[in-house]
Amino acid sequence: MTRRIVEILKKGQPEETITIQGWVRTKREQKGFAFIEVNDGSSMSGLQAILNADLPDYETILKNLNTGASVEVEGILAPSPGKGQRIELQASSVKVYGDADPNTYPLQKKRHSFEFLRTIAHLRSRTNTLGAVMRVRNACATAIHKFFQDKGFIWVHTPIITANDCEGAGELFTVTNLDLNNTPKKEDKSAIDFEQDFFGRRAYLTVSGQLQAEVMAMAFQNVYTFGPTFRAENSNTSRHLAEFWMVEPEMAFCDIVGDRDLAEEFLKYIFKYVLETCPEDMEFFNKRIDNSVLATADNIINNEFERISYTEAIDLLVKSNKKFEFPVEWGLDLQSEHERYLAEELFKKPVIVTDYPVGIKAFYMRLNDDNKTVAAMDVLAPKIGEIIGGSQREERLDVLETRMKDLDIPPEELWWYLDLRRYGTVPHAGFGLGFERVVQFMTGMANIRDVIPFPRAPLSAEF
Ligand code: 4AD
Ligand code: MG
Repeated sequence: MTRRIVEILKKGQPEETITIQGWVRTKREQKGFAFIEVNDGSSMSGLQAILNADLPDYETILKNLNTGASVEVEGILAPSPGKGQRIELQASSVKVYGDADPNTYPLQKKRHSFEFLRTIAHLRSRTNTLGAVMRVRNACATAIHKFFQDKGFIWVHTPIITANDCEGAGELFTVTNLDLNNTPKKEDKSAIDFEQDFFGRRAYLTVSGQLQAEVMAMAFQNVYTFGPTFRAENSNTSRHLAEFWMVEPEMAFCDIVGDRDLAEEFLKYIFKYVLETCPEDMEFFNKRIDNSVLATADNIINNEFERISYTEAIDLLVKSNKKFEFPVEWGLDLQSEHERYLAEELFKKPVIVTDYPVGIKAFYMRLNDDNKTVAAMDVLAPKIGEIIGGSQREERLDVLETRMKDLDIPPEELWWYLDLRRYGTVPHAGFGLGFERVVQFMTGMANIRDVIPFPRAPLSAEF
């Protein structure tokens, strides 16, 4: 039976006969034998195999064993005299599945820039860095499910195709199967008649599963979503993707305080889990990508997050006397530079900002008694800025209806959402965690496009 390299490196014993399968990372030839390092994706380190010249077909095998070739190696484990490894494999048979021409295979042993690696997204997961990213990403996802499952939350699957703009920011991708060269027009010829489209109305890719998660929370009390969301924001930044994964817990009988506390507990849990399960990968990030990665993780796990109101945040920004690019004024949204000042420079840890002005937040957020602010909260992280956005939801039918009217949201489009306030309404709250942002934060990777296998961004959807 073939075994995974991660397990052999930990538990393999001398004299054991084993088989591994993977891809050659390096080859070194010496007189009478050769070393290859095989990586199977299960860990950063590969297993070193030694091929003796007396192996059948030695010359042919060696010729085909270039970086990138796929192999199966059978042999006996032995203590390794080399430094940096406990054990190595003395090959008794080697099968090359597919060679990789060294003249054309793009991933040679040198360091490649992340920009270049993005142009070979189909191969880049075989590199050390992307390999570590994808394992950490997997560990983050596992931590997220574990966290909520252990608390009895139900994982609900909300639709990807929807007719609503949850965030009201107009960043929607339309989903259609109309003939784009011959679209049906409304009677006055002014616009496309989506009533003749597949769904009988205009449909979009979802920007958030929240509205449907609220539906489910009104039946199961505590639920969470974890799935892809889509935003056509034309922001070519290192923190935005057009397709990203979001985790959205939604809790009935919960207010903004419970919401805020859960967000903190949740982030701490994810960091702790990843440190425990991916120590080698995390060491790598600390050494090669950003030497504050481990200190940051430690800071997240061990310090209480700062809690301030939006109004206090504005005061602090004004008092800082810093020259910001964007204006600081009560009523305006916080920009990334402001968020980063608070989290990175001032408090040097995550900051949870609550009670934003009603004018800059989505329609569903609960109006505070001052009639000027809503029970919103954003978790701001050093280097990343906003990592979580959430709120207590408006559970009062009349207040919600007024709010929608003010924002020109037709009530008939969200009649089912309003029904939740008619039948058994309760205070409830939730938040959304940008999954890639947490992976980025965890690994110290500078660009969000390098923490998802196949990034979708403006002008980028090749793979
Ligand atoms: O703050 P947002 O827009 O909140 C919502 O969508 C709410 N419906 C969530 C809820 O209360 N259930 O987005 C939530 C998070 C942000 O804090 C950010 O981390 C991430 O999603 N995010 C993005 N991540 C990558 N690329 C983008 N374009 C993102 N836009 C938001
Ligand atoms: Mg937000």
